[in-house]
Amino acid sequence: MKPNHLLASPALPKAYRSFMTRGTFAAMLCAALSISPALAADAPAADQTPLPVALVNALNKLAGGPHAGYRANHAKGVMVTGTFTPVAGARKLSKAPHFLHPVPITVRFSDATGVPVMPDADPNASPHGMAIRFQLPKGASTDIVSISANSFPVATPEDFLALLQAIGASGPDAAKPTPIEQFLGSHPAAAKFVTTPRPAPESFGTLAFYGVNAFKFTNAKGKSSYVRYQILPEAGEHALSDEAAGKAAPNYLMDELPTRVAKGAVKFKLLAQLAKEGDNVNDPTAVWPATNPVVELGTISLTKAVVDQAGEQKKILYNPVSLPAGIEPSADPVLAMRFPAYAVSFGQRAQQ
Ligand code: HEM
Repeated sequence: MKPNHLLASPALPKAYRSFMTRGTFAAMLCAALSISPALAADAPAADQTPLPVALVNALNKLAGGPHAGYRANHAKGVMVTGTFTPVAGARKLSKAPHFLHPVPITVRFSDATGVPVMPDADPNASPHGMAIRFQLPKGASTDIVSISANSFPVATPEDFLALLQAIGASGPDAAKPTPIEQFLGSHPAAAKFVTTPRPAPESFGTLAFYGVNAFKFTNAKGKSSYVRYQILPEAGEHALSDEAAGKAAPNYLMDELPTRVAKGAVKFKLLAQLAKEGDNVNDPTAVWPATNPVVELGTISLTKAVVDQAGEQKKILYNPVSLPAGIEPSADPVLAMRFPAYAVSFGQRAQQ
């Protein structure tokens, strides 16, 4: 996918142009109210359709898709390559190989939703994504798949499906309170998530990303700790003003990153926030206290844009639970549902 070609694609679904508030996932929710009111009616019943398939179907419908060859979520993206260089603190927490020696990485930044022509400054493009593939020795790899939000709106995949279906069922003609109003009323974490401001970033290189789901790290001495990733830009976090966002070119983020890496390495610190006694490690809506210890794992240094953007983006399937010895998934049910859903989306986009 060449970013400049994106806008030649069919028009952005009307729903994504008619958002009501700026800078929040709420915009997507509100916008979606006018897109696919039929969603609830023809969404597959969760009890008949495997949940990963139902989730991908729901994401596709909200995006006016499926869009041939594109991801059901985070459809629009840009890929760059570079190196991850660990620091000594990393191996104190985990014996994973990329925490011992520098390794090559392939990173895909993305806009939210399954809309391939999502304008980068659109509130619906947030939270943005940052997916990192670490190339390990002997052809192995491991991934981190993060978003520019420090939590997820729901604690279970069933609730995620209910959220997506509530959006779809809340068209302009829906009776009040609409399904999405009811859902947000009974799910405070989702309500908080959608009302958190997320201004358009100046660049992918000035945006912070979070792993959201927890993982269990184990070091060479067998000591374990639960962690959540934080990925902070060395250039600092910088957002556009609403006025600048309103004037931003549709592909400004996708176009800017290759230029930025050509001028000099774009760097992020990879950090691990440690869980303390009593912190919930299995609920991605539960934000741990900011006072918890944060340990530096190393530096992500991005130096080159991928040449064949369309080909490479289509080929790669990131997997948040492809993990080497030293890292294990938590029992978070959202984490467990991610790869099954990604694989369904990959299966669809690989054939188109
Ligand atoms: C049950 C919960 C979730 C579902 C059903 C879901 C669904 C999906 C799907 C279908 C894709 C497209 C995959 C592909 O075609 O390769 C995707 C991509 C993505 N998701 Fe999720 N997701 C979930 C949770 C999360 C969470 C918790 C995060 C972040 C912490 C996240 C971040 C991303 C990112 C960054 C991408 C783009 C990856 C890439 O660049 O290839 N997702 N998601």
